[in-house]
Amino acid sequence: MNIINFYKEKKKKKEPISMITCYDSSFARIIAGTDIDSILVGDSLGMVFQGNSSTIPVTLDEMIYHTKAVKRGAPNKLIICDLPFLSYHISIERGIESAGKALKETNCDAVKIESNSEFILELTLRLVEIGIPVMGHLGLTPQSHNTLGGHKIQGREADAAQKIAKGAVDMEESGAFAIVLEMIPEKLGLEITNSIEIPTIGIGAGRGTDGQVLVINDLLGVDSSFHPKFLKKYANLHSVVGEAIRNYDTEVKSRVFPSQDNIFH
Ligand code: KIV
Repeated sequence: MNIINFYKEKKKKKEPISMITCYDSSFARIIAGTDIDSILVGDSLGMVFQGNSSTIPVTLDEMIYHTKAVKRGAPNKLIICDLPFLSYHISIERGIESAGKALKETNCDAVKIESNSEFILELTLRLVEIGIPVMGHLGLTPQSHNTLGGHKIQGREADAAQKIAKGAVDMEESGAFAIVLEMIPEKLGLEITNSIEIPTIGIGAGRGTDGQVLVINDLLGVDSSFHPKFLKKYANLHSVVGEAIRNYDTEVKSRVFPSQDNIFH
C-alpha cells in the first residue's frame, strides 16, 4: 500500500486518519493487530523512551534502530520515520543523505521533517523528486523549542497564525503528502485543513484536522505526571505496571513465586 495514495484517498473520502507513535517491536506487534492507519516512529522517543527533556539529543542512528524494531513488529503498517535534529539542517545534500539512509535501512514508507523555512521547502522538493515521501510538521515544532519559548501553543496571534497557514500551503506546493499540526488553536487547524488538499494530522490542533496522532506512552498513561490539555489517556499503565511489579516483588520475597506451575522436573 502506497502511503501517499492511502492518505490522499482518506482525505477525499473525509475519513479520519489515525496515527500513533511507537518505538519498539512489542508495542508495534500490538498495533499491528489494530486498525490504526499509520505509525510514526517519532523523535519524541528522546523524551519518553530515553528520558531527555527534549528531542534535541536524538541521533539518526537511534531513529533507524527504533524504526527497524517497529517495522519488524508491524511489517504491514504504514511507517513514518522522524528525521532528528541536525540530521537534515546542515545542507540539502546532508538532508538527502539522512532521509535516504532512513528509507534504505528501515524500509519505512516516509520521513517527517519539521518547519517550513526556505531550506525545508527546498529539501522537501528535492526529497520528493528523488522518490522519498515527506510528511511536514508545523505549529509547535519541538526541535525548535529553544527558539519558540518552550513546548507551548503556537499561532495564537494573527501574524503567527498566518505564518503557519502559509507554511502549510508552501509545504503542499513543495510536495509534502501530509502535515502534522502540533499545538495550535482549533480554528487555525480547521482553516489550514480546508485550505490544502493533503491531509493534516493534529496533535493538540483541535477537531478539524483530517487525522489525529498521539504519543503511545501518553495515551497509555505511562507517565502519571503528564497531563497536557490535548491528551486523552485511554489506559493507566502507570498503575497497572506498578501494581504488577509490586506483586512480583512481594511474591519473590515471600517465596510464593515460582510455584509448582513455574518449575521444571
Ligand atoms: O516525535 C513525535 O512523536 C512527533 C509527534 C508528537 C507528532 O513528532
